[in-house]
Amino acid sequence: MLRTPEVLRRTGGQPVKSIVFDQATIAARVEALGAEITEAYPDGDLLVLGLLKGSFIFLSDLVRTIQRPIQIDFLVAASYGDAKLSSGSVRLLYDPETRLEGKHILLVEDIIDTGKTMQRLMKLLGPRHPRSMAICTLLDKELATEIRPELRFVGFRAPPAFLVGYGLDHAENYRHLPFIADLE
Ligand code: IMP
Ligand code: MG
Repeated sequence: MLRTPEVLRRTGGQPVKSIVFDQATIAARVEALGAEITEAYPDGDLLVLGLLKGSFIFLSDLVRTIQRPIQIDFLVAASYGDAKLSSGSVRLLYDPETRLEGKHILLVEDIIDTGKTMQRLMKLLGPRHPRSMAICTLLDKELATEIRPELRFVGFRAPPAFLVGYGLDHAENYRHLPFIADLE
């Protein structure tokens, strides 16, 4: 268990098991992802769509490393229905106000676990006729499920642990940690 004053001040006394990705490691990887994204979209309108709330810190760092014109919007999704049924769906609590038609859409997520959320979102947004649609996730747990969507840009492979920080929460706490930690 990690009980440094830096950690304990921020968590209110809750130790974390370990810091999995520190600030410098994250910053370097985000910079490289930004360069990849810049190169991948030589032309056309690019709309960066962040999934709230988890992606808010990652997205704000990422967009500042992208060296081309972009637009930014967010969406808030809620899953409902039996999670085990493929008929389960995702509902938008906040729908992007920007038109998607004819634009490259880059969906930005904090972490992909089963991939269900993203898979359903792609299905939902597809009929709006974007020019292309791709996923950028900071973390990928690499669970092999049938519904796994294609992940075009991935920051890090994540260990099979419960991670918090840099946008990721546990019961809405710890999103503000500047590093990514294993809580257990
Ligand atoms: P999926 O639909 O199974 O891919 O679930 C992805 C969502 O689960 C993410 O947007 C997160 O909100 C949440 N999630 C999955 N793993 C973790 C974790 O380790 N820490 C925090 N949230 C997680
Ligand atoms: Mg999330």
